[in-house]
Amino acid sequence: MRAGRAKVAVMGAGATGAATAHWIAAKEIADIALIDVAEGLAKGKALDLYEAMPIEDLDVRVEGGGDYRLAEGADVVVITAGVGRKPGQSRDDLLRVNYEIVASVARQAVERAPDAVYIVLTNPVDVLTYAVQKTTGLPYGRVFGQAGVLDSTRFRTFVAEAAGVSVEDVFAFVMGGHGDDMVPLVRYSTIGGLPLEKFLDRDTIDRIVARTRGGGGEIVSLLQTGSAFYAPGAAIAAMVEAVLRDKRRVIPVVAHLDGEYGERDIYVGVPALVGRNGVERVLEVDFTPEEAAAFRRSVASVRGPLESLGIAGGSGR
Ligand code: 2OP
Repeated sequence: MRAGRAKVAVMGAGATGAATAHWIAAKEIADIALIDVAEGLAKGKALDLYEAMPIEDLDVRVEGGGDYRLAEGADVVVITAGVGRKPGQSRDDLLRVNYEIVASVARQAVERAPDAVYIVLTNPVDVLTYAVQKTTGLPYGRVFGQAGVLDSTRFRTFVAEAAGVSVEDVFAFVMGGHGDDMVPLVRYSTIGGLPLEKFLDRDTIDRIVARTRGGGGEIVSLLQTGSAFYAPGAAIAAMVEAVLRDKRRVIPVVAHLDGEYGERDIYVGVPALVGRNGVERVLEVDFTPEEAAAFRRSVASVRGPLESLGIAGGSGR
């Protein structure tokens, strides 16, 4: 890392990019460059956020604009650029259009920030994370995506509310592709280290699992004009912090598999150790046969779009 404060370049100044910048600034994690083709939007949101810093006693520089030179010296590049979901659309409906946007952003960003760690948020995130790695040619560990931290925080929210306990004591994690067949792992989720079944009956747990899977869609149908941004932004900020502070966190991220879980040539949500170099290790969970089948189904739903874009081929197994 350079001398001085760390720097994060956030690509895309839409609601999610702006929320990401907000959470990063609020935690004083790094200086921020907010970059968007809509130059005024990026400049305006960046300046507005920058002007809030004295109120909160935060020494964070926030710049914005349309020029990729703003990304120079970034330690982390976050890619949120792309179009969001509309009611009735799945994440995969966004595939082609967001692929073009993300590939173009990644190509330009890597010229300015070749040594950065790249974190992708744009949907369909599992597929587009691989697209960013292919476009930039960066090592697999330096490119990963955000999905599991968001899905897990939704799961944790619903568990804490149903059990009437603090969110602090709920550990829950979700893996697989960031689609409706994502895999919330109830067996590995706990409240204060105790199984969820000590607090919640089976029906309630099943309802929470279903609500978690549909969590993104629930927000889309409420907002009507966009998709979630507060929780996705907070999830990204936590991942950026894990990298810049070399926290070596064990969190679910969209990571490249090279034989883990019997899968190859794919990016999908799995628990991983995240530190200064990005994904330092993919961790393998011991599945029951049902969990393994659910994970395989979820992986299959990521392979289809990858193959249609020509990013990866074959079953990879
Ligand atoms: C979500 O789950 C936008 O995919 C994102 O809300």
